[in-house]
Amino acid sequence: MSAKIILIIAASIALISSICVSSSDPGLLQDFCVANFNSTVVVNGYPCKDPLLVTSDDFFFSGIDQPRSTDNQLGSNITVVGVERIPGLNTMGLIISRIDYAPGGLNPPHYHPRSSEVFTVVEGNLFVGFITTNSDMGNTLYAKKLQKGDVFVFPQGLIHFQFNIGGKRAVATAAFGSQSPGLMTVTNALFGSIPPVPAVILAKAFQLNTTTIEWLQQQNWVQNFNYN
Ligand SMILES: *[C@@H]1O[C@H](CO)[C@@H](O)[C@H](O)[C@H]1NC(C)=O
Ligand SMILES: *[C@@H]1O[C@H](CO)[C@@H](O)[C@H](O)[C@H]1NC(C)=O
Ligand SMILES: *[C@@H]1O[C@H](CO)[C@@H](O)[C@H](O)[C@H]1NC(C)=O
Repeated sequence: MSAKIILIIAASIALISSICVSSSDPGLLQDFCVANFNSTVVVNGYPCKDPLLVTSDDFFFSGIDQPRSTDNQLGSNITVVGVERIPGLNTMGLIISRIDYAPGGLNPPHYHPRSSEVFTVVEGNLFVGFITTNSDMGNTLYAKKLQKGDVFVFPQGLIHFQFNIGGKRAVATAAFGSQSPGLMTVTNALFGSIPPVPAVILAKAFQLNTTTIEWLQQQNWVQNFNYN
């Protein structure tokens, strides 16, 4: 009986400590680890540049105020200000991005497997929302019309979107608690994968015929972001 209790306590402690470890940022062991893009060593992130070669410019990026071209099928453009643009962000567990929207422009349904997102409207009017996971209550849509100065949160791993309803251009920023939040655009992933998902599978899933699925697979599923 007592051995059983000890085992349960030990298992609980192990569970709690493993949760704590996996839910917090890794502790930094030094002031910074500026990304060394030239290294051939493969690690989680980038190896560090020699600190003697680090300069202030490694922590700097200019031009996030510049409007980006939204001349693509989606009418949106995501400018990622991550470690590729600021090498000093390496290992810090955060990045930011700027998003431009043409009138009617859409940042299509997508999710970030490794981070939640704090979204701020800098200019214009957007309709934004996220959808919860499957549950007894079904997939709930949490959505809101936003204007300049509004902040909205998209929880980690949940599908979300932003749509410009303002009739003029809109601009937002998105901050992430990961150096590499990951981006999974639902349409691109399902209809634009290489090689393609067999049409019979998507036809069953979407309850459409394979002709319609093959047509969807032939569309040009553009990427609306750039890292460099
Ligand atoms: C990588 O190599 C290029 C060309 O040799 C050099 O200009 C650059 O400073 C190097 N970058 C780092 C982070 O070492
Ligand atoms: C985003 O804007 C930049 C700068 O205007 C442009 O070079 C790039 O092609 C645009 N990307 C997309 C997907 O439209
Ligand atoms: C497939 O579905 C579309 C849309 O419902 C329909 O117009 C088309 O006739 C169907 N094609 C076949 C081969 O069943």
